[in-house]
Amino acid sequence: MSSAGSVPPPPDQVASPARIHDYLLGGRENYAVDRRAAEHVLNIVPTAREVVASNRRFLHRAVRFAVQETGIRQFLDLGSGLPTPQNVHETAQRFDPSARVVYVDNDPVVVAHGQALLADGDRTAMITGDVRDLDAVFDDPQVTRIVNLSEPVGVLLATVLSCLPDRDRPGDVVRKVVERVPSGSLLIISHSAATDQRMRDRMTEFMLGVTRGMWGRMRDPEEIAAWLEGLELVPPGLVEVSAWRPDPGETVNPPTEAMTLGAVARVP
Ligand SMILES: C[S@@+](CC[C@H](N)C(=O)[O-])C[C@H]1O[C@@H](n2cnc3c(N)ncnc32)[C@H](O)[C@@H]1O
Repeated sequence: MSSAGSVPPPPDQVASPARIHDYLLGGRENYAVDRRAAEHVLNIVPTAREVVASNRRFLHRAVRFAVQETGIRQFLDLGSGLPTPQNVHETAQRFDPSARVVYVDNDPVVVAHGQALLADGDRTAMITGDVRDLDAVFDDPQVTRIVNLSEPVGVLLATVLSCLPDRDRPGDVVRKVVERVPSGSLLIISHSAATDQRMRDRMTEFMLGVTRGMWGRMRDPEEIAAWLEGLELVPPGLVEVSAWRPDPGETVNPPTEAMTLGAVARVP
């Protein structure tokens, strides 16, 4: 998004990644400016609705994996986005009712909705925070109240690094998370990707224009893989999100020009 500390534009005048995403997911927390932008995204990537829905299903399976297979019961959802029908705490608490989640976003509209709909006493909170200043996030009193950083934690970076331009060093965000969490923690990451340079450029140029610079870049799969070097990837590794451990009966998306890649990585 725009540089840390800058004043956000009035929400009904400039499209935001969170509200475009919400519209593509069928949500209602968006303005006309977001809906127009999202319709244009659909012209560039006709499968965009399926791409974002597949990402949410991946997050559900990854969080369930974290709870059921590794016993993790505390999560930080960085760049959480607007509340959706299946939020991280709902998935986690379905499999372990004691699970705790802190949602973090730097968009004031997201934080306002999240505080109204997601915050719930001891187990769930929504805070304003920026992935470019993770020390402030990890040291936030709401985070230290809900998340015990001496025990493994599941950290989600779900499509948020797509919102960071190269100058904000998205790879350093991954490194910082790894530095701050204990061994055995899981990083659940997804990112907007395309192998075709023209597709990446077209999408990036459109999103930067429509959000007035509050976006980053669609990236090449190899760039995203490089951030994960040194971490142990849970099989099947970094893949198109619908191919990450699909449930029986779930379809795997056919190869398309634009996709979301996802991985779950163990912190050594
Ligand atoms: C495309 S949405 C993804 C929402 C959700 N994580 C998902 O994958 O379904 C990206 C979210 O990241 C947030 N975001 C963008 N830049 C951020 C930053 N520097 N720090 C924190 N949140 C950020 C946006 O406000 C938005 O809510």
